[in-house]
Amino acid sequence: MTDDSLSSHLHEMDLSPDSAFTAQANGTADLYDAAAADHEAFWAEQARSRISWATDFERTLDWDDAPFAKWFVGGSLNVAHNCVDRHVEAGNGDRVAIHFEGEGGDTRTITYADLQKEVSKAANALESLGVETGDRVAVYMPMIPETVFTMLACARIGAPHSVIFGGFSAEALHTRIADAEAKVVVTTDGQWRRGKPAPLKAAVDAAIHHGDDESPVEKVLVVKRTDTDVEWDDSRDVWWHDLVPGQPDTHEAQPMDSEHPLFILYTSGTTGKPKGIFHTTGGYLTQAAYTNAVVHDVHPETDVYWCTADVGWVTGHSYIVYGPLANGATQVLYEGTPDTPHQGRWWEIVEKYKVSILYTAPTAIRTFMKWGADIPAKFDMSSIRVLGSVGEPINPEAWLWYRKHVGGDKAPIVDTWWQTETGAIMISPLPGVTTLEPGSAQKPIPGISAEILDDDGNPFTEPEKVGYLVLTKPWPSMLRGIWGDPERYKETYWSRFGPKYYFAGDGAKYDEKGNIWLLGRVDDVMNVSGHRLSTAEIESALVSHPSVAEAAVVGAADETTGQAVCAFVILRGDAVDNGEETVQELRNHVAKEIGPIAKPRQVMIVPELPKTRSGKIMRRLLKDVAENREVGDVTTLADSSVMSLIKEGMSSGSSD
Ligand code: PRX
Repeated sequence: MTDDSLSSHLHEMDLSPDSAFTAQANGTADLYDAAAADHEAFWAEQARSRISWATDFERTLDWDDAPFAKWFVGGSLNVAHNCVDRHVEAGNGDRVAIHFEGEGGDTRTITYADLQKEVSKAANALESLGVETGDRVAVYMPMIPETVFTMLACARIGAPHSVIFGGFSAEALHTRIADAEAKVVVTTDGQWRRGKPAPLKAAVDAAIHHGDDESPVEKVLVVKRTDTDVEWDDSRDVWWHDLVPGQPDTHEAQPMDSEHPLFILYTSGTTGKPKGIFHTTGGYLTQAAYTNAVVHDVHPETDVYWCTADVGWVTGHSYIVYGPLANGATQVLYEGTPDTPHQGRWWEIVEKYKVSILYTAPTAIRTFMKWGADIPAKFDMSSIRVLGSVGEPINPEAWLWYRKHVGGDKAPIVDTWWQTETGAIMISPLPGVTTLEPGSAQKPIPGISAEILDDDGNPFTEPEKVGYLVLTKPWPSMLRGIWGDPERYKETYWSRFGPKYYFAGDGAKYDEKGNIWLLGRVDDVMNVSGHRLSTAEIESALVSHPSVAEAAVVGAADETTGQAVCAFVILRGDAVDNGEETVQELRNHVAKEIGPIAKPRQVMIVPELPKTRSGKIMRRLLKDVAENREVGDVTTLADSSVMSLIKEGMSSGSSD
């Protein structure tokens, strides 16, 4: 579709809410008024109505020590009790919590009663390994039920988990285990990827035996998933199947303080060191449950919900584990890739389980567009009634395709903007309430306040002017800090525009109707397939290779993945440039240091890098080269001939 026909098509569509949908929707227009009338009373009401407290809270928000927030002060609750036990106690033990679909076609149906037993056994097992309230547990696992059991078992004990995405390397795992000082690691022998087993525990072994470092890890609990050969340390390693099934299937869930840490999740920042974003108990659970109810419109008695994210990312935390389970929802958990064993696998799953709410990422939708609309057309997807998108801006063309070929031309699409740091959805339409605008996340949800600021930190509302997105009021699921580094927390989020504004790091603008359009990161953070990667982290991985003298990384526009990693590298004087071979070696080196997701699409070996007189690399110019554009203004370069040198002398290699 050309841009013109796309916009005239959009113009003709009626995207106002359907009255039948509105009649049953959890979200209502008056929520906006209630939240605007009294921010704290609104959130107190959400906390009390959606969550079960062991002790009620005395104060809704303590912002006296801003930017360090305390929500629902004096309250206590247990997250696992809220996500599991209370549903069983309410008589819903027979309701399916998880329809698990293994990549190879094996399935498991786990009811809330089953979940209560499994989580209790896992909690008893972790305690038998010495895990106590406050200890950290690293989780390095694929998308299997034991991963959910483990996370909830940690929550039950009050031992913050740190889930590390299974696509990260041993090196990345080591840094994260060390930073959180994890006492126990839970992992699997291997994970299924496109029909083949890939080892996982081996990376844990390497992460623990890292050089001469003393590791904090005392025990490694291993689920057998792929029958992959593993090395075994008898004094440290324990098989899940030897320990967990024999545990008692009841476990007393102790209430935790509302501000007790629930989890740490590492995310990329603008420096080479990942940030351990940490979230706490009461506020996080309140907002995860609230948003899953009003944005995804989950009706636990009737819906089958499916969030396709990996639990290694925040979306998997808030919208596979905590939000839907707190609401007592029935959901699908799928282990594998969308094209195994065929490109219709997702739609087959939708048909099989009658999925009614699907939450996924634009990069997946664009991949399906490439594969063709005839593939979803082969399946009965009439059960779908709400679609969600997260991770990056969804381009209107992908929005329309999603609506038509997945949503039966009628399902509302909620484009949800949020971050690891925000813990839960912040800007999004409410289905049944909002008239949709394809490509825009639209408005802060009730209870959330955002503004767009200009370079001088002044809020504005003029349409089409580009500025910086900030959040102007504390919210319950906000990060409570960066693990072990309160200064970096203040500096990163609360200093760019002063202590009143949380700086999200995203560019944004309003349209004529006052909708917010997110325009991507304004810092040195890339968004590749909805995953955050830091330019600095990849640069430092590249310079750790003995042949590399200097490296600069940019995120270049990519049709499928949103952005792709492009690296410019200067080799050391004594290194030999073997062309394609060197390029492949460097790409593999990054995959080894960080993980396959960080592997550059392109590595370009160049004689020089464009720098300002103060020595700052001008990534903007490199982006022009990577995106095959005419190179922009070079007048601030220390040596303006560098760009032609780069373009002429470049030897480049691209992805497999
Ligand atoms: O740039 C924004 C983009 O993803 C960033 C947050 O990444 P992460 O912490 O990994 O969390 C991703 C899942 C919540 C944001 O700063 N982003 C996320 N959702 C959207 C988005 N950009 C535009 N539209 C969205 N809906």
